Amino acid sequence: MTVSASTPRRLRHLITLENLGADMITRLLDRAEALRAEWFSQRRKLDLLHGRTVVNLFFENSTRTRTSFDLAAKRLGADVINFDIASSSTSKGESLVDTLHTLEAMHCDAFVVRHKENGTAEFLARHVRGSACVINAGDGNNAHPTQGLLDAFTIRRHRPDFSALRVLICGDILHSRVARSDIHALRALGVGALRICAPANLLPAQEELPGVEIVEDFDQALAGVDVVIMLRLQKERMQQAQVPSEQAYYARYGLDARRLRLARPDCLVLHPGPINREVEIASAVADGAQSCILEQVGNGVFVRMAVLAELFDT
Ligand code: CP
Repeated sequence: MTVSASTPRRLRHLITLENLGADMITRLLDRAEALRAEWFSQRRKLDLLHGRTVVNLFFENSTRTRTSFDLAAKRLGADVINFDIASSSTSKGESLVDTLHTLEAMHCDAFVVRHKENGTAEFLARHVRGSACVINAGDGNNAHPTQGLLDAFTIRRHRPDFSALRVLICGDILHSRVARSDIHALRALGVGALRICAPANLLPAQEELPGVEIVEDFDQALAGVDVVIMLRLQKERMQQAQVPSEQAYYARYGLDARRLRLARPDCLVLHPGPINREVEIASAVADGAQSCILEQVGNGVFVRMAVLAELFDT
């Protein structure tokens, strides 16, 4: 199931994992592994990004992504601006591009962008005037590349041979940028089998999911899988209620202890967070021995350090 794609020699921006290729993804994961080892052996800041300024431009709320980019940049020695959208001149009508150019004029070097509109990070990358780079921290339901990388990194730390893996992604696929980036990363890395399970009205069109098996029944979908990635119900992206009730959703698509026993005994449980307990996942599973949820969060810092270091070609 390997997808061959030519990989650029170096990253200019990170907008999506689509077409990034196994060699670049592997390079980023290897670098994250090295930075992780260095951090745990020395517990001190590196100076790879000394003199650089990274701006977090978050037009949507975030706990994990924003904080871990902040930490990642600081651990590499950069200065960080957590741009406060609410008190900025965007509230006076300043456009995104004018905001970008204004910050570029102050010699900011990287922009980490989250926005509810698909394509915002790519749009800003096209409008950068100088050498600054843009990192997509999540755009609409399109892409969340660093989440895709950190999920692959977390899986690889436990199960290095992707070709032997059966991975299931369950939940609100339609609205999930995480699912799209996970699919790109897992396919690029040659995952053995990739399954999707979701209510019919929370599934994208089949052509958006090449090489993916769709299994409607969650119990059947779980049979024999090595990794299950649960997704949050993204009500903020739904035009109208797309699930009858949270209880009904949980009854059909919630991962509880009984269901987890249908997967392989050592099946890893991932969730990008934030989690809705007893909606997508039971607390007993989220906090249980097979859960990698907090490990994902911790790994996110090292993966984002790797992405920043790679973008600055250090
Ligand atoms: N997984 C993720 O993107 O979480 P945040 O919204 O808290 O950044």
